[in-house]
Amino acid sequence: MAILRIEALTKVYRRGFWGRRHKALESLNLEVDEGEIFGFLGPNGAGKTTTMKLLLGLIFPTSGNAWLLGQPIGQRTTLQRIGYMPENPYFYRFLTGQEYLCFCGRLCFLDSKLRQTRAEELLDKVGLSQAAKVRIGEYSKGMMQRVGLAQSLMSDPQLLLLDEPLSGLDPIGRKEITDVILELGKQGKTIFFSSHILSDVETLCDRIGILNRGRLRSIGKVSELVGAKVTSITVEVADLPQERLAEIREKTTRVQDLGANQVLLEVPDQETVSHIVQVASASKAHILSITPRKESLEDYFLREIKEESR
Ligand SMILES: Nc1ncnc2c1ncn2[C@@H]1O[C@H](COP(=O)(O)OP(=O)(O)O)[C@@H](O)[C@H]1O
Ligand SMILES: [Mg+2]
Repeated sequence: MAILRIEALTKVYRRGFWGRRHKALESLNLEVDEGEIFGFLGPNGAGKTTTMKLLLGLIFPTSGNAWLLGQPIGQRTTLQRIGYMPENPYFYRFLTGQEYLCFCGRLCFLDSKLRQTRAEELLDKVGLSQAAKVRIGEYSKGMMQRVGLAQSLMSDPQLLLLDEPLSGLDPIGRKEITDVILELGKQGKTIFFSSHILSDVETLCDRIGILNRGRLRSIGKVSELVGAKVTSITVEVADLPQERLAEIREKTTRVQDLGANQVLLEVPDQETVSHIVQVASASKAHILSITPRKESLEDYFLREIKEESR
C-alpha cells in the first residue's frame, strides 16, 4: 500500500520585486510503499526540500495533490504520525540535547516519564549520550544532524521525512546514521529521505528517484537503474609479446603495466575482447581475467543529469 502518494505536484515560486516565476517542481508523480526506504536524489536546487515542505503543508502547491498515510496532505492527525528532520534545523541553543528532546516530546503530548525515557533512548541511538547534558549551542554540525534525527523520532512516527540526513557528517558519522536508518527500516518504518551525495545510498535504499530541475528523471530499484550498462571491460594478460601489444594498443582505452610480464588492457566492447583473446592464444600468451566494469550509481546519476542539461 502506498503510504506516500504524489500526483502531478507542481510548485511555482515568485521571485524578486517583479515576481518572476520559477518552477521549482514540475508535475511530480511518486509513490512510496509502507516499509520502504526511498532515496530522493538530486543536485542542489533540484526541488527536494520543496517537495518535503509541500508534503508537510509548510508551503502550498501551485497545482497537484498528495496523500500521506492515505489522507490528503495538511491534516493534523496525519502530521502527528510523521517525523520530519529539516535540512537546516533551527534549535534552541540554550537547551541541552536532553531538554530539547523532552520539549519535543511535550509538543507531541507524551507524558513526562515517557518523554524522559524516549529522549534517553534516542540520544543513545544517535550516539549523543555523552552530550545529553551539553547545550546545543556547543554542538558541532554533525551533532546537530544527530539531534535533528533523534527529534524526528520522538513521536515514534510511522513515516519519516528526512531532508539530507547524511550531510555534514564525517565518514564514521555517515556509517552510524546509515545504520540507524537501516534499523528503523527493519522495524517497519517508511523512510523518505533526500540526498545530493550518492555514496552510502546504494546500500541504504530499496528504491531511488532522481530529481533534476524540478523533474523526476528516473525512478526504480538501484539494481534496476544501475549495473545493467557495461561501460568498459578490463582484460589481464600475461606473457604478451611487445609486438602483439603494439597491434592491440590502438583498440584499447587504457594500458597498464602490472609488472611480472603482466599487462592490464581496458577496452570498450566485447568485440575487442574477442580480438585480444585470439591474439593472445596465437602468441601463447595467457588471459588471466576478463572483467566487465558496470556503471556505478555515481556514473548513472551524472549521466542522467548531464543529459537533462543538454
Ligand atoms: N522560498 C523560495 N522562493 C523562491 N525560490 C525558491 C524558494 N525556495 C526554493 N526556491 C528555489 O527552488 C528551487 C528548488 O529548491 P529546493 O527545493 O530547496 O532544492 P533542493 O532541496 O533539491 O536543493 C531552487 O532553484 C531554489 O532556488
Ligand atoms: Mg534541499
